[in-house]
Amino acid sequence: MKKKAIIYSFNTQKSKKVAEKIVTAFGENNIEAINAEELTTEVFEKYDNFILSAPTWFDGELPNYWDEFVPDLEEMELKGKTFAVFGLGDQKGYPENFCDAIGILVEILEECGAKIIGNTSIDGYTYEASKAERDGQFVGLPVDQENQARLTNGRIENWVSQLNNEMK
Ligand SMILES: Cc1cc2nc3c(=O)[nH]c(=O)nc-3n(C[C@H](O)[C@H](O)[C@H](O)COP(=O)(O)O)c2cc1C
Repeated sequence: MKKKAIIYSFNTQKSKKVAEKIVTAFGENNIEAINAEELTTEVFEKYDNFILSAPTWFDGELPNYWDEFVPDLEEMELKGKTFAVFGLGDQKGYPENFCDAIGILVEILEECGAKIIGNTSIDGYTYEASKAERDGQFVGLPVDQENQARLTNGRIENWVSQLNNEMK
């Protein structure tokens, strides 16, 4: 299998914890962790498979560190590269914008030619609207530590085994 990287903010608490669980599920030697707050365009040349963390902030927005990188990202050619996006969100607190950041980031990646994997079922979540939902599925993995923390380990396990099948 080709080289993989997981990109998340090392300064977060909840997203970092979830990212570390994803690393453990893949096996530490199989994936490299990169700080989203120190991202450079070279990182996207070095790997073929990426897992990105996109927690939703500011009522349906990307966190600042992704927002700052978006202009660079939009210029990138990502054909032949595979991406899966997970994101923390709060379906009770922000039911109109649940995990929107996943959908926002996926759309940008697709415009750069990237292949998106890791779609998941909307079953088990309760919300009004989400930019992460497309054709009755999520385009990544929503993780809700505020309301469904007990489901997180199982969701991660299932997702990582799905990604292991979908990644080349
Ligand atoms: C100011 C603020 C705005 C938020 N906006 C949203 C939102 O629009 N949609 C959502 O699903 N979650 C939203 N959340 C919930 C966060 O995504 C959630 O708390 C997440 O765990 C944050 O992860 P992080 O601390 O690792 O960045 C918001 C949280 C805060 C504090």
